[in-house]
Amino acid sequence: MSNETNSAPARRTHDLAGGVLLSHELGGAAMLRRPVSSAAADPVQTEPGTSQDRSTRCRPRLALSIPADRYRVHQTAIDSAVAEVFRSGRFILGEQTVAFEREFAAFLGVDHCVGVGNGTDAIEIALRACGIGPGEAVLTVAHTAVATVAAIERTGASVVLVDIDPLTFTMDPESLRATIAAYQADSGGNGRPRLKAVVPVHLYGCPADLPAIQTIAHEYGLRVIEDCAQAHGAMLERRMTGAWGDLAAFSFYPTKNLGAFGDGGAVVTKDAALAEQVGLLRQYGWKPRRISSIRGCNSRLDELQAAILRVLLKHLPNENARRREVASRYDVLLAGTQLSLPPTRPSCAPVFHQYVVRTPYRDALRASLEADGIPTQIHYPVPVHLQPAYQGRLFLRVSSLPLTEIAAREVLSLPMSPYLTPDQFERIREGIRRWLNSNGGPE
Ligand SMILES: Cc1ncc(COP(=O)(O)O)c(C=O)c1O
Repeated sequence: MSNETNSAPARRTHDLAGGVLLSHELGGAAMLRRPVSSAAADPVQTEPGTSQDRSTRCRPRLALSIPADRYRVHQTAIDSAVAEVFRSGRFILGEQTVAFEREFAAFLGVDHCVGVGNGTDAIEIALRACGIGPGEAVLTVAHTAVATVAAIERTGASVVLVDIDPLTFTMDPESLRATIAAYQADSGGNGRPRLKAVVPVHLYGCPADLPAIQTIAHEYGLRVIEDCAQAHGAMLERRMTGAWGDLAAFSFYPTKNLGAFGDGGAVVTKDAALAEQVGLLRQYGWKPRRISSIRGCNSRLDELQAAILRVLLKHLPNENARRREVASRYDVLLAGTQLSLPPTRPSCAPVFHQYVVRTPYRDALRASLEADGIPTQIHYPVPVHLQPAYQGRLFLRVSSLPLTEIAAREVLSLPMSPYLTPDQFERIREGIRRWLNSNGGPE
């Protein structure tokens, strides 16, 4: 595990099953590299890629919308699935939801899936199914969507934050162990909330180090709830993410690898008793119907979304393969440049919800691509513990999360979609090459 945040690019070398690696198209980038001068180490004074031509080279913005492209590609099947639901007259917890739950569980290799209203609810309900609430504490990361932390707090539990591995951007098991030790030794005494669970996040579609995290969790008697909102179909040691923890939470937000056309989520588990609890919690704690046996909420996956998700689930493996193909093209384009690339681990099959590079010159690269009409995003610009709603409230082992905080300043998500066309990729390639030309990567 390295503490280096500006480590040399970790090249991914995985083979692309059926992927088309047009290295002759991309190889030209190698000629454009030159060393980054030491002066360029000061991003304020000499940010590269801020060349004077930016204002004059406004190109039409690339229109990249995963939900719109998804509808265009799968329109016929989606339209007929939606029409079927309208004809059925049943919109909540009907046969589409039951069928999707069965099919998604089979896809993941788990026994139970319970559809819920969204991914945030899925995390909250999974924690509550384990009995977690006020007076207890849950470990997670701050380099994630704020939803992860918000969901934990909604149970009434406290949040304890762990730093990340700077290569994978996921929970660092060593930091997890050190944080648990520090939390337990801290002078808060007996009144402090007891650690009950850990929520690793498979960020950007890259599996967290579950074998190591689970070993530590078992040592301390902690539940493991995977946040799989960005990792539908990602595998680790030939097992799907979502099939490792006590429970796992999925989001079907429209831009996800498996995305609905509205909100949606699911909790999955191999444990029948936990699945039953989740089922009760999502609908007022009803058992039997209209009699609340426990205090629940209303968080249901609706029939329209379930019907659409059934159509899209069939295409998920192919679409994840397309994402890997796009990632390989980026790898070839960016190999040997100053940008750090997503890592490869032999035991891992990531699904590239995002393709995230890092560089201290992130803002300049972003501005240069923007001027070329190439949209990029930052996931996430401010770590959760530094956001106004959370500042000073969450438990940190030391006063900061150094690797998380540097990552937030350096990460950039390049356009990633299974529907990216060769022409669109060519535009992106030109934009990146222009930036590399104007400031350079290594020779
Ligand atoms: C890592 C992560 N966790 C949780 C969520 C919450 O999902 P939802 O937006 O469906 O509530 C998201 C979605 O943005 C996410 O990316």
